[in-house]
Amino acid sequence: MRRWWDEGIRLPYPEAEIEEYRAALHGEPTYRYVAHMDARPVGMFQHYRIGDSPEYAAALGLDEEAVGVDLFIGEADLIGRGHGPAMLRAFLRDVAFPFHRLETCVIGPSVNNTAAIRAYEKAGFTPLRLAQVPDEPDPEYLMRLTRSQLDSLH
Ligand SMILES: CC(C)(COP(=O)(O)OP(=O)(O)OC[C@H]1O[C@@H](n2cnc3c(N)ncnc32)[C@H](O)[C@@H]1OP(=O)(O)O)[C@@H](O)C(=O)NCCC(=O)NCCS
Repeated sequence: MRRWWDEGIRLPYPEAEIEEYRAALHGEPTYRYVAHMDARPVGMFQHYRIGDSPEYAAALGLDEEAVGVDLFIGEADLIGRGHGPAMLRAFLRDVAFPFHRLETCVIGPSVNNTAAIRAYEKAGFTPLRLAQVPDEPDPEYLMRLTRSQLDSLH
C-alpha cells in the first residue's frame, strides 16, 4: 500500500489505514454499515463469516459455517421501540444472507444483556447455548436463525 501510494502522491499513507488493509488481507473481513432512519444516522450494523476468525470460531464451536452479525442503535430516543428487531431482519434479508450465501446466522449478545436477547428473540433468533469467548468479560448468549426461518416470518 505504502509503496503504491507514496510513489504516485508524495504524502505518506496513514499507518492506521495500512493496518486496516493488512487485517482485511489477512482474512478477518468485517463489513460495517451505518443504519439510517430517513436521513438520520441511528446505529451501526456489521456482518462477517464466523470461520474467518479462527479463535472466535473455536470459542463458538459451531458445527456449521455461519454469518455473524452485531448491531447497536446509538440514539437513546430510538431504543426500546422495536426498531432493532425490524432493522435486523431487513439487514439479514437484504444484506448479510445474500452477501455470504450461507444458510445460518448467529448472534452473541452478552448473557447479561436481557434487552438485546429479547430483541433478537423478537427478530426470530432462538437460543443455542452459552459460549465463553477469550477476552470477553461475560459469556455470550449464542442465538441462531436460518435463512428459511427468516423467510417464513414474512
Ligand atoms: C439491543 C438493541 C439493538 C435492541 O433494539 P431495540 O429496538 O431497542 O429492541 P426492542 O425495542 O425490540 O426491545 C427489546 C426488549 O428490550 C427491553 N426494553 C425495552 N425498552 C427498554 C429500555 N428503555 N431499557 C431497557 N430495556 C428495554 C424490553 O424487554 C424489550 O422487549 P419487549 O418489546 O418484549 O418488551 C438496542 O436496544 C441497542 O442497540 N441497545 C444498545 C446497545 C446494545 O446493547 N447492543 C447489542 C449488543 S449485542
